[in-house]
Amino acid sequence: MRRLRRKQGIRHMVRENQIQVTDLIYPIFVTTGENYENPVPSMPGVYQYSVDMAIKHLEKVYSLGIPAVMLFGVPGYKDERGSSAKDPNEAIQRACSETKKHFPDLIVITDVCMCGFTNHGHCGILKDGDIDNDLTLKELTEIAISHSKAGADMLAPSNMMDGYVKAIRQGLDKHGYENIPIMAYSAKFASNFYGPFRDAAYSSPSQGDRKTYQMDSANGKEAIREVELDINEGADIVMVKPGLSYLDVIKDVKQSFRHPVAAYNVSGEYAMIKAATEKGWLDEKQIVMEVMTSYKRAGADMILTYFAIDIARWLNNKEE
Ligand code: PBG
Repeated sequence: MRRLRRKQGIRHMVRENQIQVTDLIYPIFVTTGENYENPVPSMPGVYQYSVDMAIKHLEKVYSLGIPAVMLFGVPGYKDERGSSAKDPNEAIQRACSETKKHFPDLIVITDVCMCGFTNHGHCGILKDGDIDNDLTLKELTEIAISHSKAGADMLAPSNMMDGYVKAIRQGLDKHGYENIPIMAYSAKFASNFYGPFRDAAYSSPSQGDRKTYQMDSANGKEAIREVELDINEGADIVMVKPGLSYLDVIKDVKQSFRHPVAAYNVSGEYAMIKAATEKGWLDEKQIVMEVMTSYKRAGADMILTYFAIDIARWLNNKEE
């Protein structure tokens, strides 16, 4: 085996998987106000941006050739029903239209969920302490339509309600948005790796956890059932999330279906690498590229990652 490993050129020739800039999706947190940039303590290098500052930051993303961004809204107000999620004057809707105005070719994907918008921090509408699935579906559909109206190119519902893809698809089609694809967070696990994201989005549940709607991390076969349901309901792209601890699930989804597979390198994965590299215990570039390559090897067609800008810079500089 070592004959093919002796020279860098040969190693490149036989390399099976390679991350490319076009595989990347950059998640960004947008909030209200102006000229505002607030660092997220548990995610060094990640900020909440007011829309004007987000546009400045996205200039980097666009010029590096990263094809898409995922917008997460941090709203100006929260209530029981998460009303701000569909408010046309809120950060996420304004960020959609401004981003499309400044960078028409940059694909804008929006997170369709309620946890950052409800005062209880759950991903839907509560009734007697439990999330009412079908009431939530109606709300999610309205949120999806408001994002589409604002100019989103693609919607990424992450709420894990039953039947959400079908409800949103029907709502979009009825309102003239039949061309907007759905990237479904199909296999989304109730993971401890989301902690830093919840610091960034102020979206921790005030009571309880998300285990009655997100998946049990022990279940691989159930992930396939989730993906199958979403595909049958009309999902265009299916996602596995988190990625690193669920590479087996990515592989199984890729082998079981023919749909494009997205994988989310989530906030906790980012925070772990940042913490270790800041201490000098790991080499950031080498470790990030190894992790990204493992996502590709497992079968991910696209990767959502807070490292997207760094990765694009490294790749554009063409170092090994
Ligand atoms: C919203 C949502 C979450 C993430 C993406 N969309 C958090 C959650 O479910 O609590 C997590 C992303 C990350 O950790 O980077 N439902």
